[in-house]
Amino acid sequence: MKSRRKRYRPVTEYNIKTPHRDNKVISKLHTINKEIEKISGKKEKESHADPRIISLKKCVEELGGLDAYQSASKLGEAHHGNINSAKWVLQKLKELNIRKEKGTKLKLLDVGALDNHYRKQKKWIDCTAIDLNPQNGCIIKADFFTFQNDEPMLYDIIVLSLVLNFVGSPARRGEMLKKCRAICKPLGHLFIVLPLACLENSRYLSHELFQEMLESLGCNLTASHSSQKLSFVMCQFTGEPSQRKAFPKTVVRNGIKRNNFSIVMTS
Ligand SMILES: C[S@@+](CC[C@H](N)C(=O)[O-])C[C@H]1O[C@@H](n2cnc3c(N)ncnc32)[C@H](O)[C@@H]1O
Repeated sequence: MKSRRKRYRPVTEYNIKTPHRDNKVISKLHTINKEIEKISGKKEKESHADPRIISLKKCVEELGGLDAYQSASKLGEAHHGNINSAKWVLQKLKELNIRKEKGTKLKLLDVGALDNHYRKQKKWIDCTAIDLNPQNGCIIKADFFTFQNDEPMLYDIIVLSLVLNFVGSPARRGEMLKKCRAICKPLGHLFIVLPLACLENSRYLSHELFQEMLESLGCNLTASHSSQKLSFVMCQFTGEPSQRKAFPKTVVRNGIKRNNFSIVMTS
């Protein structure tokens, strides 16, 4: 009898009940993305001319590119009862009474935004929504890694919802967290949403280790929540000089059914 092996699913797959075809697109694009980052990470320059990268980029185009990925993610959101991270962010801001004095607004940066989910709160939130491939006119086309590098400490709130896991390389994920520190105000807040499996079933990352990484950036946990598939983390920068530590890739859990999601950070 044929043995039925379970299909391997990368954790970076947007693992909610999207139709099968959409899950496949998301999963394939994540895998290609990781490959591209792996190859370009090894080369100092001219990685765009590498035939392997050219061929991988062609595969991305054939799959429908970022557009296909984003519409699949949007569908996922809709199929999940339209639960989006903004609802949790707003709930926490209200619960903890995080507001500016009258006349000024909280400056919020939503990274990797499929829509401006803070439109209705425009009286008290000034939202800048950015994405590599904006799906509508209220999103700015920008890469977070090069966005506003000259203007540090701009934002009261930064939201990274399902973006860290989109970044293909563990070291770039660490860079993303470090950049949050650079552009967030001293007592600003950082909201991060990750697939639960990145923290609960990874060989290289756990809730505790992730918290330690954030603390090393001077960012302390304020609240957290786990849904069936996602992990929500809210933390606040202390404004104190941080105890920068290096976090190389280290095994934190053993077992054969683990995934390989990791974040690597230099001190
Ligand atoms: C899975 S979607 C998440 C969308 C939304 N934030 C959510 O929670 O449903 C990931 C998005 O992040 C965007 N993204 C990935 N890396 C980025 C970067 N460096 N700068 C800006 N956007 C990025 C992608 O283009 C994609 O639209």
